[in-house]
Order: sequence, then structure tokens, then C-alpha cells
Amino acid sequence: MLDLKPLCPGFGAEVFGVDIGRALSDETFAEIEKAFFASQVLVLRGQRLTPAEFVRFARRIGPPQPHVIDQFHHPEDPNILILSNVLDGGRPTGLQDAGSYFHTDYSYLQVPARATTLYSISVPEVGGDTLFANQQAAYDDLPQAMKTLIEPLVAIHHYGNRQDTDERSRTAASPLTDGQKARMPVITHRVARPHPVTGRMSLYAVSGSSFGIVGMPQDEATGLLDELAAHSTREKYRYRLAYGVGDVVVWDNASLLHAATLTDPAHARTLWRITVLEAAPEASAPQVLASTFAGSGR
Ligand code: SIN
Repeated sequence: MLDLKPLCPGFGAEVFGVDIGRALSDETFAEIEKAFFASQVLVLRGQRLTPAEFVRFARRIGPPQPHVIDQFHHPEDPNILILSNVLDGGRPTGLQDAGSYFHTDYSYLQVPARATTLYSISVPEVGGDTLFANQQAAYDDLPQAMKTLIEPLVAIHHYGNRQDTDERSRTAASPLTDGQKARMPVITHRVARPHPVTGRMSLYAVSGSSFGIVGMPQDEATGLLDELAAHSTREKYRYRLAYGVGDVVVWDNASLLHAATLTDPAHARTLWRITVLEAAPEASAPQVLASTFAGSGR
């Protein structure tokens, strides 16, 4: 039996007594997976991992997908994205200010992320926390009229942050090169989406990459998405995770929004990140042609 302690009322659990640097038995991994889908966020403190060990652990959860921002891939394994505000001779050693707004990883891909895992390498003296917002609880609390309204709706997603598209801003999505932008699709996901493993309904990526709703005038769509985002990121749905060195966190992208918090550049913060994909595309979400979304400011 796994030794688990809740992180907060409602979701999240800390796992004790598991060294993920070792090859986990199928039995232990099955318990971790069960706890993961039940708790939505797992934290395993004080791990000591090589890049290969971290990737081996992530592969148990799903197939890793290297991030489009390839200039910060780990030199030993491109599945690891280095998040860091540390400069070396004035040059960045990792991606700074990644995801400093509520979003869902890879919700701009048709086969989105099942999970993201971070491994904490250096922790700032102040700040550096990650926020999580429980989108299952937020969905459950919606009035029935809103559930009925959004049930058939399909949101249009692409890389970016709907609420901040100024590439110079620290709370916009990390800027892409022209070549990277050209590789990013315009796709769709249901606004209220059943979890691909558990089937539980959740609001899905209503903050971040959702820029419109199929068949709805733009102002109306943005207004509805903003209303859902304001509801689903309320304090009562949140948990704030503070890191120690060596902590590993794994979260369920299908049922959570998350946000980095802005760290003072004077305080070093470095984490390794791996994001793994869901198993299969959603059958119900139609593909939207890029031309449908011309002029979106992506
Ligand atoms: C992310 O959004 O993937 C990064 C979260 C963080 O750095 O806290």
C-alpha cells in the first residue's frame, strides 16, 4: 500500500517512501497511477534523479512529447525541457517565466498532455511556487443551466494565452520563433470534457490556449470563456505547491489548470519538465481548419 497524505482538502497527495530513481515494480507503479488519477496531483519529495531516470519514470505515465521550444531541451535528452531563470555569461540556461498564467499543458495539440512532471533542481529563497486549480470541482459547482449551455460547445485552441498576447509580457505564453509558430496547429477540444481515463467531467483549458468557440461570435465566446476561467480559478479551487530541492510533482492535465508564479530573477529557480501525452485522440472533437481562425493574433 502506498503511504499517502492529502495536500489539501479536495485534491492532491504527497507520496512517501518511493524512490523513483529505481526501476519501479509494476505493482508499485499501478498504485502510483491509481493515486494519480484519484488525487490529480502527486508530490514525491527529496528525489535524486539523473536525466535518464527522470525520463524512465515519465515514460511509465505516457509517451513523452518534446516541447516545441527546442532551444531549452536538456542536452542529454530532448524529452526534458529546462525551466530556469539562471543566466550563464548573460545567456539563459533554460526557459524563463514559462506558463505564468493558468493553462493546461499541450491543450493546443489535438492529442493533448495526460501529465506533466517537474523535478526541482534549485529553489529560490522566496517564491517559485506552482498553483493548481481543480477543474473537476469547478465543473461540479456550475449551475445546471451553465452545464447544459456548455455541454455541446467545442473550443478553438492554439498556442498562446488568450488573456495576454503581448510577447514581451512575463504572463504571455513563451515566445516562439517563426519556425516554431509554423509547426503549431489550430485544433479543438470540448469546453466540458470527460476525463479520458476516469470519465469524470471537467472544465478543460478554459484559460490559456482557448481563443474561441466553434460557431459562436468572437465577443460572446471570449466572454463565456473568461467567465468560466474566472469561476474555475477561484481561490477555493486552488492549491499552492512550494518546492524543496529534489521534489518531483506530477499533475493530471485533463482535470487541472496550473500556473507558475513569477519569481524574482535575483533568486535562482531551475526545474526539469517532462510532459507526456494522452493515449488517443478524442473522437468527438472535430478538427478546425486554420483558415477558420484567421486574424487571431497567434
Ligand atoms: C509549467 O507551466 O509547465 C511550469 C510551471 C512552473 O514552472 O511552476
